[in-house]
Amino acid sequence: MTTKRKTKIVMAQSHSEFLTDTGVDIKQYFKHKSALIDQWLDQLMPGEDDSPAIIHQAMRYSLFAGGKRLRPVLAIATGEIFGADQNELIPAACSLEMIHTYSLIHDDLPAMDNDDLRRGMPTCHVKFGEAMAILAGDALLTQAFVTLADYQTQKPEIKNRVISEIAHAAATTRALIGGQVLDIQFEGKPVTGPQLEEIHRAKTGALIRCAVRIGAIIGGADPAELDAVTIYGEKAGLAFQVADDLLDETATSAELGKTAGKDAASHKATYTSLYGIDGAKDMADRLCREAITAIAATGRQTSVLEEIARFIVERRS
Ligand code: IPE
Ligand code: IPE
Ligand code: MG
Ligand code: MG
Ligand code: MG
Repeated sequence: MTTKRKTKIVMAQSHSEFLTDTGVDIKQYFKHKSALIDQWLDQLMPGEDDSPAIIHQAMRYSLFAGGKRLRPVLAIATGEIFGADQNELIPAACSLEMIHTYSLIHDDLPAMDNDDLRRGMPTCHVKFGEAMAILAGDALLTQAFVTLADYQTQKPEIKNRVISEIAHAAATTRALIGGQVLDIQFEGKPVTGPQLEEIHRAKTGALIRCAVRIGAIIGGADPAELDAVTIYGEKAGLAFQVADDLLDETATSAELGKTAGKDAASHKATYTSLYGIDGAKDMADRLCREAITAIAATGRQTSVLEEIARFIVERRS
């Protein structure tokens, strides 16, 4: 059966087109890049009528439910700084959003955080049932590596590095799944500052660090530049989860598109539970400043990444 695909063509625009007299219009930047990412994701995913239709519907339901697209935007913004080829950069960036969306579907399952609201919609398991949600998560993770394996390149050694970076970030050692394991293990248990940092760096920080690194690698950044990008990614990645903990306590479910107040109810180890709201806010602000200092030191045109670091800690959703 043929597949309905969106036909709107979004042309890539360069960094400089989002520079205004007062700095970068980061809202416009996200809007434009999200449209570009959505268009590519639509092409990269099996169609919703492709057999077996139910799994493709479940995958697309969660993928197109309206996420911020932070990870692919970070990959693209970093790649643009180093002049990366869009036809390599965008599929690699899209694979991160597939992995991120899989992690959210599984994070929401009854056996994990047991949430029924995500991206402003009923969670995947509420809509499609638990079995299909587990499989949709598995399938999105797999589709990410299909995407990476299949994109065309003149530089296979760079592509191998990108695949390795993404695989490691999604894995268990100082990586996404390992962080989710610790997050579950520490529920209802006392946690120290270093333990909490380890959880957050792994469950959320690893993929964000990876996003900026693959942008820099595809763009051919030199080792010193890659180091600076990595520090930016680590600081911004940790700040992102600190801000997520803060928002869980300070924002509404309507703002978040997910259930607010869930961490305290589940006795999660969070930055707000350990340091309080003011302490967590100070940490997020400090990490944001450190991220900006690290990336600015490259001497490149980094204003978009600087604005994204600010957005990470100032956002309301
Ligand atoms: C939520 O991520 C889960 C965390 C890692 C904290 P986002 O806040 O980026 O969620 P979406 O993609 O915008 O829905
Ligand atoms: C989720 O952390 C991290 C991953 C999905 C890997 P949370 O459990 O805090 O994310 P939310 O708050 O449900 O989005
Ligand atoms: Mg969780
Ligand atoms: Mg959760
Ligand atoms: Mg959270």
